[in-house]
Amino acid sequence: MIHTTQPKLHRLFHSCTTLSVAILLLLTPAMAQTAASPPPPILLGTAWYPEQWPESRWEADLALMQKADIHMVRVGEFAWSRMEPSEGQYDFDWLERAIAAAARHGIYTVLGTPTAAPPAWLTQKYPETLRVDEQGHRAEHGNRQQFNFANPKYHEFARDIAERMAKRFGHNPYVLGWQIDNEYAEVSFDPATRAQFQQWLKARYDTLDNLNARWTTAYWSQTYSDWSQIPIESTYGNPGLLLNWMRFVSDTWRSYQKNQLEVIRANADARQFITTNMMGWFDGFDHYTVAQDLDLAAWDDYVGQGHLDPAKNGAAHDLTRGFKGKNFWVMETQPGSVNWADINNSLDKGEVRAMAWHDVGHGADTVSYWQWRSALNGQEEYHGTLVGPDGTPVPLYSEVEQIGREFAKAGPALVGTTPNSEVAILHSYDSRWAINWQRHNKDYDPVKEIISYYGPLRAISQSIDIVAPTASLSQYKLVVAPGLNVLSEAAARNLIAYVRQGGHLVLGQRSGMKNNDNGLQTQRQPGPLVDLLGGRVEQYYALVHPVPVEGGWGSGQDQLWAELLSTKAADVQVLERYGKSNGWLDGQPAAITRQVGKGRITYIGIWPDDQLMSAAAKWMVEVSGVKPALGPVPQGVEVDPRYGNHHTVFILVNFSKSQQTVSLPSAMQDVLNGGSTNSVNLPAYGVGVLSQQH
Ligand code: GAL
Repeated sequence: MIHTTQPKLHRLFHSCTTLSVAILLLLTPAMAQTAASPPPPILLGTAWYPEQWPESRWEADLALMQKADIHMVRVGEFAWSRMEPSEGQYDFDWLERAIAAAARHGIYTVLGTPTAAPPAWLTQKYPETLRVDEQGHRAEHGNRQQFNFANPKYHEFARDIAERMAKRFGHNPYVLGWQIDNEYAEVSFDPATRAQFQQWLKARYDTLDNLNARWTTAYWSQTYSDWSQIPIESTYGNPGLLLNWMRFVSDTWRSYQKNQLEVIRANADARQFITTNMMGWFDGFDHYTVAQDLDLAAWDDYVGQGHLDPAKNGAAHDLTRGFKGKNFWVMETQPGSVNWADINNSLDKGEVRAMAWHDVGHGADTVSYWQWRSALNGQEEYHGTLVGPDGTPVPLYSEVEQIGREFAKAGPALVGTTPNSEVAILHSYDSRWAINWQRHNKDYDPVKEIISYYGPLRAISQSIDIVAPTASLSQYKLVVAPGLNVLSEAAARNLIAYVRQGGHLVLGQRSGMKNNDNGLQTQRQPGPLVDLLGGRVEQYYALVHPVPVEGGWGSGQDQLWAELLSTKAADVQVLERYGKSNGWLDGQPAAITRQVGKGRITYIGIWPDDQLMSAAAKWMVEVSGVKPALGPVPQGVEVDPRYGNHHTVFILVNFSKSQQTVSLPSAMQDVLNGGSTNSVNLPAYGVGVLSQQH
């Protein structure tokens, strides 16, 4: 949590907003450097681009933000040409005035470094700072993310602008923190980056003999006799090469970020956090690698076409929370609609509010809309906003006003609270990449596999963490690893220790097949866990049609993929068997489990249909002693607990299409409506916020 302030102060902040605005209006910039009330614990924000508007318009925008209880603007992340109009000529005065103007409306600023959008003079004079795509084409000015993430000259410019911003604003009391760049994504395949990759491999493998052996380059005469021969492959290449390219990309994004982070940290107050805005399930780099240097994780949460899928979105929140193991920010989210989906439908009336509370329920301490108002020209004219091109509120503004009022009301109850779970799902970029490069069944999507477990497990347990396979697991009663395809020795040791210490480990399909070089393990799946399991995968089968299964979880269908399991140890129990299908699978074990001391290990060789997965989830939760956070609720109602030292806040969101009544296990404080209650009525998209003292 970045907000460590006392609830009392927050209440004071809210009740004194008008007074403090009046006082702030009288402050000179020098006085303002020393006086800032603490920000509200749950922040409503918006992306604001003052550089796109005449200064005479700022007051009207900020007043409208203030009216909606918006207390944060993210500013600056694409404004390089305004900050440095020509090489070495800087102008930060307008930014200082924008921060001060926002502060006068009780609005804090998060500053974005502008490096996702280099100015034209820079890339014209230093074309090597432009990235090159895999086909060898150099990017041009006119869009964004055209920079080369590995280029030393670009690093020099990025560091310079970040340092100058930090020197200017690192002690500004209204600057809460920093967002480095914007949505790291595009990489470069130019010869200099390739040379860096080769050096990186040398540092990792030491000798070519070692690399050749571990990548089995005798295959197709791939053997390298000089480091400079090693190519870049990003889609179809040697699996060892592919995996290492993605690790190099991840390390390069980390150093790209560090380059700016170091100069910000050296010049900014420690209270100013440093983050970057990530993209949920995006797998263009290993987010655990990049997040380790940040103070706070943040992501940009867009539905795109259709409507909020609470499982997919909830899991992405939990994934992001897992990057730092603490509450996070939703740095961008859609005000109704986006402009980049096939059909940019709007979220329903009430759905934006439900989504905002869903964010907070999963541990977001800030929800920030992208964007306040569309630039009058530029690529995103059609994107959803909170005010129209005429500068007056769009219909959604009133729903956002309601969110603002509710965040202000619930802030004191939510301050210092965070989700906390007895169940973890393991997530690994190595495994997702490895499966995606060789899906073997085109429909085998590793994220869908994770969500197929997450959905029913979350509905029963009402809280899930998503963490890396090497994370500390001791707090969990149940750890589920769907598709843990690449299993490093360190991760295997972690999992074995977890089971030996009494935990229940559930492995899903394709787990333990690959080693840390993305090569095949010499033991069958699950590789180093075979002995602990007392069983193994004899053979896997990609499926054109589902196959039947039956057993203790009931009868159902296995989809996409089947693994024929065998049991070696006498104490292994068969949970499900295959029915009649291809002959090989008929009557064979499909899911097995074994008690190991106080712990347990289970292997699920099927991708169960929804009903069967629900039964499997129920079994996993029961056999592991996991208790639901609140207790049974009607289907479609999501329960999101946030725990404090002396109380728990339950956020309830009704994602079903009809009104639902939730009976509470005991009387609780109704945070939004006041009073104490034993049950809550929720219309479709309705939200309840309940607080229970311990
Ligand atoms: C994000 C990006 C924003 C804006 C938004 C539109 O990916 O960070 O700058 O383009 O998408 O949905």
